Amino acid sequence: MPFHRALAAARRTTEAFVNRASVDEARATVAIAAVAIRAVAIPTVTLASVLIIGAGIAGDSHAVTADGLAAPATISDGGIPGILPGAVPGDPARGRAIVADRQVGLCLLCHSAPIPEERFQGELATDLAGAGARATAAQLRLRIADPSRLNPETIMPSYFKVEGLTRVGATFQGKPLLDAQQIEDVVAWLLTLREVPR
Ligand code: HEC
Repeated sequence: MPFHRALAAARRTTEAFVNRASVDEARATVAIAAVAIRAVAIPTVTLASVLIIGAGIAGDSHAVTADGLAAPATISDGGIPGILPGAVPGDPARGRAIVADRQVGLCLLCHSAPIPEERFQGELATDLAGAGARATAAQLRLRIADPSRLNPETIMPSYFKVEGLTRVGATFQGKPLLDAQQIEDVVAWLLTLREVPR
């Protein structure tokens, strides 16, 4: 299912919440949207990407250029150490807004986060609280740009990837889900999340 259909499903979820539909009904819609996203996130495994993933695992000390991203980025030590091309250092407030927005970041479809005004957050993945204590900026940047590089089976979308995806809707061809600046903003906000909930 193309990503815009997944977005539509997620939007219906939000509407269901607003209309006070039963939580079960809303959960079912979340599950459908997650499956739709999974269809988009599955990377086409090319020989080149296998080799690069292999290089990333085997030789962490030598940097590789990430293929298939919307702009060239270098991966080393399990992260993207430099700010993405074309972006300036991220703004945490804008990042928070991107994460909270179910039509932009869509993170709350799967994750919970310390954004108390957003009700009905995701339970398919970790709570983002404490994310800034668990990872460096470089690791968070790679995690959002292309999580499939960290876990080829992940259901998390590769937000900065434009190649090697399957079944991408026509309007999304060649366009990342988040641009370089949006990713920097999200990373900047995640880095402020240093407190792990008890
Ligand atoms: C479709 C579900 C889904 C969406 C949408 C999603 N994630 Fe994830 N995310 C996951 C899963 C599942 C993991 C666990 C690791 C894995 O499977 O790759 C994860 C792991 C993470 C991690 C590392 C674990 C941690 O909490 O320290 C971070 C950080 C993260 N996601 C941030 C985000 C952000 C920010 C967004 C939105 C821009 C987002 N995710 C959107 C499913 C999702």
